[in-house]
Amino acid sequence: MKRDNFATRLGLLAAAAGSAVGLGNIWKFPYITGKNGGAAFILVYLVCIVLIGVPVMLSEFALGRKTQANAVGAYKKLEPKKSWYLTGILSVLTAFIILSYYAIIAGWVFSYISKAITGKLTSVAPSALGDYFNGIISQTAQPLFWNFVVLAITAFVVIAGVKDGVEKYSKMLMPILFVLLIILMVRSVTLHGASKGLEFLFKPDFSQLTPASILEAVGHAFYSLSLGMGIIMTYGSYIKKEENLVSLSLQVTVLDTLVALMAGIVIFPAVFAYGLEPNSGPALIFVTLPAVFKSMPFGSFFATLFFALIAIAAITSTISLLEVVVACFTEQFSIERKKATILISIALFIVGIPSTLSFGVWSDVSIFGKSIFDAFDFLTSNIFLPFAGILVCIFVGWIWGSKNAAKEISSYGAFSFKLEKVYSFVVKVLAPVVIGMIFLYFTGIMDKLKSVGTMLPNIVL
Ligand code: PHE
Repeated sequence: MKRDNFATRLGLLAAAAGSAVGLGNIWKFPYITGKNGGAAFILVYLVCIVLIGVPVMLSEFALGRKTQANAVGAYKKLEPKKSWYLTGILSVLTAFIILSYYAIIAGWVFSYISKAITGKLTSVAPSALGDYFNGIISQTAQPLFWNFVVLAITAFVVIAGVKDGVEKYSKMLMPILFVLLIILMVRSVTLHGASKGLEFLFKPDFSQLTPASILEAVGHAFYSLSLGMGIIMTYGSYIKKEENLVSLSLQVTVLDTLVALMAGIVIFPAVFAYGLEPNSGPALIFVTLPAVFKSMPFGSFFATLFFALIAIAAITSTISLLEVVVACFTEQFSIERKKATILISIALFIVGIPSTLSFGVWSDVSIFGKSIFDAFDFLTSNIFLPFAGILVCIFVGWIWGSKNAAKEISSYGAFSFKLEKVYSFVVKVLAPVVIGMIFLYFTGIMDKLKSVGTMLPNIVL
């Protein structure tokens, strides 16, 4: 079977950056920054991105391009007799589960667009917005309908293929995303009292920074760059040998970080200008910001632009998640693309139902003390992702070998790769150790170890 490829460099960049730029940048980054004290957290995040994010992204691109195969096939090609392909299966499974609930949040965003256009959103009293949001997400039919819309749009693009679907639409949507971001940024910073928000964003307060925030920064760097899910690997498999992977990875990372910061510049000045709290957590964009839009002249218009922006960011990410799963099924099981996409999308819709209901009629159901939605999120973001991340690093660093990876990265000498030694050290040692720590921390194992540690002296004495 002939494999599809990205046709242009710009299209490739738009698709990879489109995957990276998502709800993580516009929804999660601002609220975790708000929670962790603003600028100090951003500094730590930048260090994590450069030190861990870029090398791991390079490794995934290299693995994909070398093998010209999907996330499972790549391991099978390099180590046919070993079980490394299980790492690929873990990545594909993670992508599937993440997509099943990511599409639900994207669905909320779509429903907010429809409410912003009609002016309904800005007619709600600010104090009632929390209940309004809960009222929307706790229903059954409406969220499922919007979830269906998101999956249908995603499937439509993926069916069209890499060049005529993923590339074409990313190239169209990403510039629109930037234009919307710039319009909203200008609006926000010109509000009276905006400077406090900028100060919050750019003046570090190290007292708010805890070891936990550092681990949160590494975890978010991984999530935001779409690493550990086989996405970058799969996209890498559609890249031509002449492409410079180092500059590509740097560009994707810079764009991703730029959008996260720009989203912060849209959100915080507006939040401070209207005297609202920056640390309202996940409710920041759905509850706090509509209050901001309500007080603004032409609020419905800006609210519509804002939610359209998030919708675009989310769709280019759902496309990449679905592509990983579809690429795996078409190649490993020789299922035709259209059929595979439709079947997987139906499965996603079904798996998403319990997560959707966990905000409403099933809100009492709990798995290990978490709602179904939170349990899925926890399992994938905090356990599967770091675990797959460590395995990718070990595979590239020690099994395939960082020397071989470096050859692929430099396109066999066509480009210089000056930081090869640093790269080697990061994939072999630093990244697995740091990611291992996040894993221990988020799974609660670290706390247990610590309490054993503090108990030990007593026992010994
Ligand atoms: N990187 C995307 C974001 O920042 C999220 C994402 C996660 C995309 C997982 C694909 C897969 O939102």
